[in-house]
Amino acid sequence: EKGTYPHFMLKEIDEQPFVIRNIIQKYQDENDNIMLEEGIRNAIKEADRLYIIACGTSYHAGLVGKQFLETFAKIPVEVHVASEFSYNMPLLTEKPLFIFISQSGETADSRAVLVQVKELGYPAITLTNAPGSTLSREADYTLLLHAGPEIAVASTKAYTAQIAVLAILAVDSARAKGLHIPFDLTKELGIVANAMEVLCDSKEEMENIAKEFLATTRNCFFIGRGIDYYVCLEGALKLKEISYIQAEGFAGGELKHGTIALIEQGTPVIALATQEHVNLSIRGNVKEVVARGANPCVISLKGLEMEGDRFVLPSVLEAFSPLVSVIPLQLISYYAALHRDCDVDKPRNLAKSVTVE
Ligand code: M6R
Repeated sequence: EKGTYPHFMLKEIDEQPFVIRNIIQKYQDENDNIMLEEGIRNAIKEADRLYIIACGTSYHAGLVGKQFLETFAKIPVEVHVASEFSYNMPLLTEKPLFIFISQSGETADSRAVLVQVKELGYPAITLTNAPGSTLSREADYTLLLHAGPEIAVASTKAYTAQIAVLAILAVDSARAKGLHIPFDLTKELGIVANAMEVLCDSKEEMENIAKEFLATTRNCFFIGRGIDYYVCLEGALKLKEISYIQAEGFAGGELKHGTIALIEQGTPVIALATQEHVNLSIRGNVKEVVARGANPCVISLKGLEMEGDRFVLPSVLEAFSPLVSVIPLQLISYYAALHRDCDVDKPRNLAKSVTVE
């Protein structure tokens, strides 16, 4: 039920702070110990490499998850688009563990890989919102998102839920290896949930950005470095699928290798600046596109903001910035689609779960 909301997408965007708090509750006991099936812990301990397999938004969440698992738990991770992996399988390590990320748990491309992997006898975990789903039933273990039903075709709360559960998994795996985690997970995720609330209350601002930058444009670029780049891929997907604006996410440093040729007078470029170690370099990229006439919209993390930034995100742990930086991008896409009279919840040519390969 949409309740008083005009669209499921807006409702689901607003549910994100609640979903994060719910995930903390479901995965932690009263002493802040992470509760995970012992089998999952052991499977991760035994693996020499994790292979994350997913499509679309879930693939983008997987990219962020790789960052967590490699930096916190020091486990090598590869992230693959399911449809490519099934016929272009990379050389696997001796003890691979597969993690399938799928909101619906029914995506045919991902399932095809799961079937192959099971035939080869490798262990698999499914990270899904749907407990009884095919991918959940056919994998050895399931990690649930606890995000509640996601109805809008454009995935929003499932993305942040996937990232939060992957963060928990990474911290748990680090602890299991005796590695030190220099932050308090429950506290930091709580800060994220509060920050999400502030962002969900910034709708007017986001609507203004959508009107200012996207009302009539044919295209839009999203640029970022490191983890921001991954969020840019998600921001671009969101914008194109519901507003039909041609949108691309690029790694800041890649622009000069070709794409910058597309920048014209007034081309909107949305830049994310949430990572201190690349703050100056992404600022340099913004200058490059501005020099070619781009209309820049810089979204930065509090503490890293600079004069002229269009929006400053509330302060959160830098590693967890994708959980908050994606919300303005979701809202901007929503309002861009709305003002272009697009069917926000049911975009053309798309289905909520893609059950054909
Ligand atoms: O249910 P899944 O997570 O497996 O779905 C994967 C993609 O089809 C899905 O994320 C798609 O990209 C969304 N429409 C994006 O908003």
